[in-house]
Amino acid sequence: MRDISLHVLDLVQNSLAAGATHVYICIEEDLANNLLCLTICDDGCGMSEEQCRSALDPFYTTRTTRHVGLGLSLLQAATERAGGQLRLRSQLGKGTTLIATFEYDNLDRAPLGDMSLTLMSLIALSEQCQFTYKHCRGEQEFTLSSEELRRELVGVPLDHPQVAAWIRDYVRELEKTLEV
Ligand SMILES: Nc1ncnc2c1ncn2[C@@H]1O[C@H](COP(=O)(O)OP(=O)(O)OP(=O)(O)O)[C@@H](O)[C@H]1O
Ligand SMILES: [Mg+2]
Repeated sequence: MRDISLHVLDLVQNSLAAGATHVYICIEEDLANNLLCLTICDDGCGMSEEQCRSALDPFYTTRTTRHVGLGLSLLQAATERAGGQLRLRSQLGKGTTLIATFEYDNLDRAPLGDMSLTLMSLIALSEQCQFTYKHCRGEQEFTLSSEELRRELVGVPLDHPQVAAWIRDYVRELEKTLEV
C-alpha cells in the first residue's frame, strides 16, 4: 500500500469488523523528534493476549473468506522499512489500540496520502460508527468529529453524495491550516 491514508482505510475495517462504535484516528507529525505517529483506537470486541500476539502474523486471520490476514503485517512492514515500529494493545471486550511510528524524513516512509478521501469514505460508509480524527503538525492541530457533523447537519444523512463531497473538501481545508 502506497499511502498511510490507505493503510488507515484498511485498518479501520478491522475496527468495524470488531463491532466498534467509536474509532479515534490520530496522525501526529512530530517534526522536532523526526517522527510520524499513527494511532487508531477502537472500542470493538478486542483480542486476548494470545490473539493480539498472533495478529501481526500474516497467516493469522479470523476472516472466513481466506487464510491470510495482511492488513497489520503490511503496516508493520511499512513502519520497519521507515525505521519505526508497530505496537498493538488490546483488551478482550474493551477495544484495541494500534500505534505505528515512522522516521519522518526516512526516504522509505510512505507518504501520508489523501486523508480527506479516507475520512469521506469511512464516515459515509459506516453511519453506525462515530469517528474522531485528529491531525497535529508541530504546534498546530485540528480535530474532526463525525458526531459534531451529524448534529450540525440535522436530518441530512452523512452518506448523501453532496454531504460526502462536502466532508472531503472540509477535511482538505482543515489539512491546509497545518501547512506552514
Ligand atoms: N481492531 C481490531 N479489533 C479486534 N480484532 C482485530 C483488530 N485488528 C485486527 N484484529 C484481528 O487480527 C486479525 C488480523 O488482522 P489483519 O488486518 O492483519 O488481517 P485481516 O483483517 O484478517 O485480513 P485483511 O486485512 O487482509 O483483509 C483479524 O482477522 C482480527 O482477528
Ligand atoms: Mg484487516
